[in-house]
Amino acid sequence: MSRAATPANPHPAPAPAPLDAAATAFVPHGDVLYLDCAAQGPRLQAVHAAGLAAYEAAARPWQRVSPTPPEQREQLRALLARLFDGEADAVALVPSAAHGLAAAANSLPLGEGDAVLVLDGQFPSNLLCWQQRCADTGARLCGVSRTQGQDWTGAVLDAIAAQPRLRIAALPHVRWDDGSTLDLDRIAAALQARGIFLVLDLSQSLGVLAPDMARWRPEFAVSVGYKWLLGVHGLACLWAAPRWRDQGRPIEHHWCARDPGPEWRFPVQADTPWAAGARRFDAGGLDDPVRLSMAMAGLEQLLAWGPAAIASALGERTRALHDALDRAGLGAWAARDHAPHLMALKPPAANLPVVYETLRDARIACTCRYGVLRLAPHLHVAAGELSRVADALARFA
Ligand SMILES: Cc1ncc(COP(=O)(O)O)c(C=O)c1O
Repeated sequence: MSRAATPANPHPAPAPAPLDAAATAFVPHGDVLYLDCAAQGPRLQAVHAAGLAAYEAAARPWQRVSPTPPEQREQLRALLARLFDGEADAVALVPSAAHGLAAAANSLPLGEGDAVLVLDGQFPSNLLCWQQRCADTGARLCGVSRTQGQDWTGAVLDAIAAQPRLRIAALPHVRWDDGSTLDLDRIAAALQARGIFLVLDLSQSLGVLAPDMARWRPEFAVSVGYKWLLGVHGLACLWAAPRWRDQGRPIEHHWCARDPGPEWRFPVQADTPWAAGARRFDAGGLDDPVRLSMAMAGLEQLLAWGPAAIASALGERTRALHDALDRAGLGAWAARDHAPHLMALKPPAANLPVVYETLRDARIACTCRYGVLRLAPHLHVAAGELSRVADALARFA
């Protein structure tokens, strides 16, 4: 179990691996079966305690705190880097996935007649910035959809082959709506063979599925912090490939993204040099000790458990749910080809509202959208508890 936070020690030690007692590291959920972690991750006690301690300390701004928010930013950057390729210089702190993706769209070259590839139904943070960029440059946006029986990887590979002027593919690793997973080994190889830029939204995978940065070689990758990174709203990350750390064009010009020297001067007639690496993309307004402390506490615990162990434990949970649905005669509602942590139930359309209501009455929290119920557990839920879903829905078999 985590050690409690105190003002002198705002970062309680993370619970050690293995994961047997992981559920006790979370704020208790009472009788609610919370399966909406794809909307917002469950709150770790250590994250909650770190936030409260930082909030308390912020009431006395005249007292010096250590680490300072700029120091915390660097510590957070180093923790985030461990989820990518270990290079802190590659990571920028931004307030949202949309902010990071807009900086990516602003930086990558695109011209009239070029094409940008996205998935149909892709999360809007990784769509709207490309619509704008295409409108500004005269490029075309190409939305990939699947034919009958095709998976998303096959559909993307077909679309790449069919687009001679494809310049950028802006994709997720795991789809936000039903947990479908893209085979980025194959997709990245097809893109690299033609020099097409890859931009990734990892908001539904980072913290569970490790990105293979060396193999996929994306130009940019983003993730929100408040889902599978067990952190907070308003603090996301942007990973940038080496060349964009020198040439990237941020969408705002906050002083924290510059290096004004020891005297902190910003001359009117000369450019102030950029801060090193991806820090040029650092957004303003993030020097908030509450969010920084919470984000760090979440990552420390996540890294102590390890994404691979988390993926394996969450895979056990979603498999247990499939087995329970099979036993209840509802196995046909759930496709099995999904990420370990995120799946969807597709009841007959006419039943959907009453099925959703039945789950709510049984105090099971999930998202209902686009004709499916999205179920996404984390380690606060034991594998055995997932059978509650099948029990609640058994009468629909
Ligand atoms: C795939 C994906 N990207 C991004 C976001 C959120 O992005 P933003 O930080 O821009 O609100 C979500 C939230 O559900 C998501 O599922």
